[in-house]
Amino acid sequence: MMKKDMDFRQYFGVQVDHVPLLDLSRQYATIKEDMDAAVRAVSDSGRFVLGPEVTRLEEAIAASAKVGYGIGCASGSDALLLALMAAGVGPGDEVIVPSFTFFATASCVPRLGAVPVFADIDPVTFNIDPNCVEKLITPKTKAIIPVHLYGQLADMKSLRRMTKDHPDPQRQKIVLIEDAAQAIGAELESIPAGGWGDMACLSFYPTKNLGGAGDGGMVITNNEAFANKVRLLRGHGMEPRYYHKVIGINSRLDSWQAAILNVKLPYLDSWVHMRQRNAGNYQGMFEELGLDRVIGLPTAFDNRLHVWNQYVVRIPGGHRDGLRAALNEKKIGTDIYYPMGLHQQECFAYLGYKKEDLPETLVASQEVLALPIFPELRLEEQGAVVCAIRDYLAANGVCENKQI
Ligand SMILES: Cc1ncc(COP(=O)(O)O)c(C=O)c1O
Repeated sequence: MMKKDMDFRQYFGVQVDHVPLLDLSRQYATIKEDMDAAVRAVSDSGRFVLGPEVTRLEEAIAASAKVGYGIGCASGSDALLLALMAAGVGPGDEVIVPSFTFFATASCVPRLGAVPVFADIDPVTFNIDPNCVEKLITPKTKAIIPVHLYGQLADMKSLRRMTKDHPDPQRQKIVLIEDAAQAIGAELESIPAGGWGDMACLSFYPTKNLGGAGDGGMVITNNEAFANKVRLLRGHGMEPRYYHKVIGINSRLDSWQAAILNVKLPYLDSWVHMRQRNAGNYQGMFEELGLDRVIGLPTAFDNRLHVWNQYVVRIPGGHRDGLRAALNEKKIGTDIYYPMGLHQQECFAYLGYKKEDLPETLVASQEVLALPIFPELRLEEQGAVVCAIRDYLAANGVCENKQI
């Protein structure tokens, strides 16, 4: 990943006004005509919910993930809820989820009367730790939701070994649901997100690698029975019209979002390449300044295709929040995904976890800092981010003030 052949020095110290964490207007400028035309066509059609644009998107995304079915819905959060509903999760069931993730991964569980069981993470990938999962499986475990955090697949091989590929038929019944909200197109051993679990859930929230102009989501799966259930459930369990087979929800993808996403989908690979290039640039720049020895840089593995929805470093020694404030002063956008494990959230207090119960989640929540990584980010902006980090850490005695 490192760009040994590239000389970054010219990008250090270039004056830049500010560096946004994400600037969607730069992407819009490159596809404006097509996007505007697609929106206009939907407006002209008078068909605003589901319809041909949604069907086209469902087919295209299922094909790109090499699975048989895609079912659009109103958000990634709803995709997770629908997947659990289709899996038949209900009162008395347990669902194992990582604690270090966005709230929606877990909130779908108690909404169905089931119990979220929080697992710790692998400190290198930030993804759910299969060793921890193994210890949490009980006869009540109905599903496991690994999250492909920041755009890199969780250890799906180990998770399959303890469920779908396990000799015990009870274990095989555990439903594996990939939370791929941050990881559309990511791969493990050339199998894309969506090809490892029984179902996978995507989000089209604007900050995602394939983002709409509002909310949207999709369940993708190879399992026809699950696909049919999700499709039924997203439309009030209604089949035919005004006859309700089951109690579903209203969670439909609208035609404008689908039309925009259909315009964007063909660009997704090139945007991912730009994110990968930016990650490589950071690696090279941090190494150039010797910062790779004091901060934790993200690791990309040879057998995984990382799509870099987020570029997250670890700032140890209690310096994370001070650094973030200093970057903010310099108008450099950052964020913290996530400042607290879900097992510590007030709404889950009834489960009785202590923060020390999941030590890797606790440390990660104190150290992580997401830096700008969006495709159109410029080299001099990356140079400004890296130099600002060096300046703060050097001023606080964490590293030498290496000037190039
Ligand atoms: C890991 C993860 N899961 C689920 C979601 C929920 O997606 P949405 O915002 O589309 O409801 C998100 C989005 O933020 C996410 O990052």
